[in-house]
This record gives sequence, structure tokens and C-alpha cells, in this order.
Amino acid sequence: MKIFVTGATGFIGSSIVDELLRRGHAVVGLARSDASATKLQAKGAQAHRGSIYDAASIVPVLNEVDGVIHAAFNHDFSTYAQNCLDDGVLLERMAESLRGSGKPLIATSGTTVIAPGHLATEDQPADPAIPRSASERFLRFHEFGVRTGSVRLPPSVHGEGDTAFVPAAIALARRAGVSAYIGDGANRWPAVHRDDAARLFCDVVERGEAGHCFNAVQDEGIPFRVLAEAIGKGLGVPVRSLAPEKAAEHFGWFARFAAADVPASSRLTRERLSWSPRENTLLFDLDSLPSYFDLSVKALSI
Ligand SMILES: NC(=O)c1ccc[n+]([C@@H]2O[C@H](COP(=O)([O-])OP(=O)(O)OC[C@H]3O[C@@H](n4cnc5c(N)ncnc54)[C@H](OP(=O)(O)O)[C@@H]3O)[C@@H](O)[C@H]2O)c1
Repeated sequence: MKIFVTGATGFIGSSIVDELLRRGHAVVGLARSDASATKLQAKGAQAHRGSIYDAASIVPVLNEVDGVIHAAFNHDFSTYAQNCLDDGVLLERMAESLRGSGKPLIATSGTTVIAPGHLATEDQPADPAIPRSASERFLRFHEFGVRTGSVRLPPSVHGEGDTAFVPAAIALARRAGVSAYIGDGANRWPAVHRDDAARLFCDVVERGEAGHCFNAVQDEGIPFRVLAEAIGKGLGVPVRSLAPEKAAEHFGWFARFAAADVPASSRLTRERLSWSPRENTLLFDLDSLPSYFDLSVKALSI
């Protein structure tokens, strides 16, 4: 197949491109700069210049490919809710232009589109009150001849090159001189390695059933206290419990993530696609990848 990949130069998208090429597919990657185009061409992919903020730059290429994986996203968290809405609009534009084609259009969403506090499963519909649910509205186009699908990622997608929430929590703990968790730290975070996530995207674009969501989850829920302990060990700083009323002062905007109890299952995904994770776990990576504790890594800022 010839697959158009947005976010093809990102942490997860670049792994998706590598896996597609390994499977013998042709790849056209969205590039918003010369540097990104060069990176894609060096791998043997084709680069298509455009932006997620200019649907007209994207829609024409959809006629030339057999399927789409959309993994680009604007990670400026100061405009997060708007970024989610924009993502939803772009997906609906792409779905509209693929109407009747039977082609797969696979989006990226999060396991946290399900309200917290219980095990999130693939068949639970996204809660419309949660901003990232906008990335799943286009799924309804499966009724109009598009093989829509969504890969829900857990809050930690880890591996070499990770600069997201876990590195951000590490940077905060380094600055504060303490690795903290809230209350008893029993709240759970799911996780997956980026290469396992990438294999799932490829499985879904090849043979995912239309209109479905798939959970890229290896660890269903690591207690946040256990994560804080691994961070404390890696940095050599003490690990402490914080009273909930002190959480915002310590964690800033990250407090609601540090407090979130968002376990997620991938049982249905494993059954439906025979996918199973085979890479290292998050705790193993934290223990074995020096880059997690490398001062030069520029993480999301808290
Ligand atoms: N990483 C995680 O732990 C995690 C967890 C849950 C969900 N997710 C989701 O997974 C998806 C991929 O995340 P990631 O970690 O791979 O992100 P990333 O490393 O920040 O990569 C973002 C990608 O989007 C591209 N992009 C951003 N703005 C663009 C624009 N205006 N036009 C065209 N391309 C643009 C970037 O292009 P350039 O290379 O040119 O900058 C890059 O390829 C996102 O939907 C993200 O929200 C990630």
C-alpha cells in the first residue's frame, strides 16, 4: 500500500514510517519544512510539503494514496483545547474527501478520552467533555465508505527520544530536588513503547475494522508512586507523598496529570488484531535508558 503519514518526523510518526517501510509499503510523509522533507527522503519515503493548518495543502495527496495515518499534532499545551478542535476539523476534511473510497483513515487519540477512575476500553465512546474526543468525531464516516479508525495512546509513549510527560516529570523532580506523588500515589498511568504503538498503527491501517478504536497499551496502569520511585532512583533524589492541596503548588499545570487515575485495557485490540506488545516496559526503560536522566534532553516544560 502507499500510505500518507502526517507527523511522519515526530517521535511516534517516525517509528510508524520505519515500520511501514519495513513491511514493504510506500510512504508519503507530510513535511512542513525542508529539514523534515530531507529526513523523510533519507529514509526512502516521499515528502509532501504542507501543514495541518492548511487542509488544502493536504487533501489533494489523498487521491494518490491507498490510506492515511494521521499522527501530527500541535503540542503547544497553552492552546491545547483549540489544538484538539483543529485536529477534529482537519480529520473531518480528510474524511469528507475520502468519502466512498473505502480507504483507511487512521487517527491518533488518547486512552484518556474516557472519563477517569475505571479501566478504559476500546468500545467505550469518547467523552465529548474531554477535549481530545474531537479527534474521534470523524469515525462516523465509516457509514460513508471510509475505513475510519483511531489508535488511542496512553499518556506515556516511551522509548529513546521521549520528551513528553515522563521526561517533564523528571525535569520537575530534578528542579525541585524531590520526586513527588499525590496522596498514596495509587492512581494509575498506562504506558506503551513507541515501537509497539507504531506496529499497532500499521496493523490498523492494513486491516482494522471500520469505525473502531484500538488501545495501544502495554502496562494497564502503573501506580504513580511507582513511577515517582523510579524517577527518584534515577535522579538520586528523595521520593515524597504530597497532600492533594499541595499538588498544584508543586506540579503546576501537570498536577491534574499527576493525580489522574486513568488505567486502560488493550484486551479487545489484542483479540481483534492479534497485536501484542513486545518491547520494553516503561519501568525497564527508566531503569536502562540513560537518556531519561540526561540533562541535555529538552522535555515538555512544567
Ligand atoms: N508522545 C507521547 O507520549 C504521546 C502520548 C499520547 C498521545 N500522543 C499523540 O501521538 C501523536 C504523535 O505524538 P508525538 O509524540 O510523535 O509528537 P511530536 O514528536 O511532537 O511530533 C509532532 C509531529 O507533528 C508535526 N507537526 C506539528 N505541527 C505541524 C504542522 N503545523 N504542520 C505539519 N506537521 C506538523 C511535527 O512536524 P516537525 O517534525 O516538522 O516538527 C511532527 O512530525 C500526537 O497526536 C500526540 O498527541 C503522544
